[in-house]
Amino acid sequence: GAPIEVDLSPIQDGQIVNVFWRGKLIFVRKLTSKEVGDMKGVPLSAMIDPAAFGTRVKDGHDQWLVVYGNCTHLGCVPIGHQGNFEGWACPCHGSQFDAVGRVRHGPAPINLPIPPYAFQSDTKIRIG
Ligand code: FES
Repeated sequence: GAPIEVDLSPIQDGQIVNVFWRGKLIFVRKLTSKEVGDMKGVPLSAMIDPAAFGTRVKDGHDQWLVVYGNCTHLGCVPIGHQGNFEGWACPCHGSQFDAVGRVRHGPAPINLPIPPYAFQSDTKIRIG
């Protein structure tokens, strides 16, 4: 599939936008500064699939998360701003993800994967 460009300028702090690339749902989320701080502070030992904050965002763009939007258990779509970790809760079997898409409560075994993307400018990304 062809790459897509996403204009980030309308997205507000805390907002999650759904986009589709290659038929797959992708969440684009603008983290609040509180969420950034909280997510940087989570110890790896508290994670099911340990991943430092810096592996979940691009250098210099701490506020932006781009992840596939299907639960890594059986593929349901997790609901944003639910659960106990400032992220998502899956309505199917109760998995919970934090604000940077790391699984924090199973049965999902791994974090929400990050698609290939790059910043074209501070307000535009290209996915693919
Ligand atoms: Fe999300 Fe099972 S599909 S917990």
